[in-house]
Amino acid sequence: MKSRHDMIERYIGLMSGTSLDGVDAVLLEMDAQGKPQVVEDSFLPFPAGVREQVLQLQAIGHNELDLAARLANTLARIYADVVAQLLGKAALPAAAIRAIGCHGQTIRHAPHAAYTLQIGNHALLAELTGIDVIGDFRSRDVAAGGHGAPLVPAFHQDVFASDTENRVILNIGGISNLTRLHRSLPVIGFDCGPGNMLLDAWCQRHTGKPYDANGDWAASGRLHQSLLQQMMADDYFQLAPPKSTGRDLFDLNWLEQQLAAWPALDAADVQHTLLQLTAHSIAGEVRRHCPQTQSMHVCGGGAHNAALMQALQQQLPDIRICSTAELGLPVHQVEAAAFAWLAWRFCHRLPANLPEVTGAAGLRVLGALYPA
Ligand SMILES: Nc1ncnc2c1ncn2[C@@H]1O[C@H](COP(=O)(O)OP(=O)(O)O)[C@@H](O)[C@H]1O
Ligand SMILES: [Mg+2]
Repeated sequence: MKSRHDMIERYIGLMSGTSLDGVDAVLLEMDAQGKPQVVEDSFLPFPAGVREQVLQLQAIGHNELDLAARLANTLARIYADVVAQLLGKAALPAAAIRAIGCHGQTIRHAPHAAYTLQIGNHALLAELTGIDVIGDFRSRDVAAGGHGAPLVPAFHQDVFASDTENRVILNIGGISNLTRLHRSLPVIGFDCGPGNMLLDAWCQRHTGKPYDANGDWAASGRLHQSLLQQMMADDYFQLAPPKSTGRDLFDLNWLEQQLAAWPALDAADVQHTLLQLTAHSIAGEVRRHCPQTQSMHVCGGGAHNAALMQALQQQLPDIRICSTAELGLPVHQVEAAAFAWLAWRFCHRLPANLPEVTGAAGLRVLGALYPA
């Protein structure tokens, strides 16, 4: 008889999100019943210059095709490095891995124009690692009329849903997105708006640091009520789900337009108000679409922002706010684990989108295979 060990399939998930901080990797074991378990993780920060190259490609510019192809090669080498690091930590050979699920780096997200573009040279990643690579998870959902985002709610449902509690899973990456896991309601999930992205950009510009650790700088400033109100009046926050967004909308240009009426605002007050924007936009969506929520489990780097967590709790006093670690997955593992899980779905030709979440015409198998 086969032991449990023989039945296990191992997948690697790679996630590099809109924060542009680097690549999160996890090693996920799937047992014969389809139960996932993360057994190792790793992180590789982007080397100098990569972040700038991604940002450059997110705006319309000169010679985009050549730049995108070169950056896709650079990313594949970084992805291969983090895979090697992860396998080293786990003391496993490449042959022990069934497939890599690679999100790639989003450079354009335009579901209204029926495309979304994540780059990363998956052929090169397969060549460098000797492991099957599954990538381009979003395009098939978009082809079926969906937003191709968010894709993580199906994974959230699989690992975090409860029979006894109405939960919300909140991921605060560059963008914030939530998944409603209520006992008697369908799963919904959508992007709430900017998560860390504007906070990071403003902090970088004024302090030279890539992010505002714990939200300490934001906490030192004061709320500018009129600015907050004006920002909250953006159309995106009024839209009903399904909806998804990215740097295409909430970037420094957007912020500069918002600030045009107040050219002399104190930088720390702006940071404080941006933090409140993240908290208010999330809380508004929770009140509108998830009113019976009992607990909210936060993941993503924003979960480390103590001032942001405090602001969220103030906005949602009746909800118990805690981290996904309480449910067994540390905050930095959730998104990468979702892409390992998506690779498992692909390898078994199981659909992975939730049409009610993305707006697609139906269930679809997501991803494309680059064999080792
Ligand atoms: N200690 C911390 N204090 C405040 N913010 C943090 C901290 N650690 C990480 N972050 C935030 O988390 C971001 C990275 O989050 P991540 O979940 O990796 O997002 P993405 O998926 O968009 O890459 C950083 O850019 C930063 O804004
Ligand atoms: Mg990240």
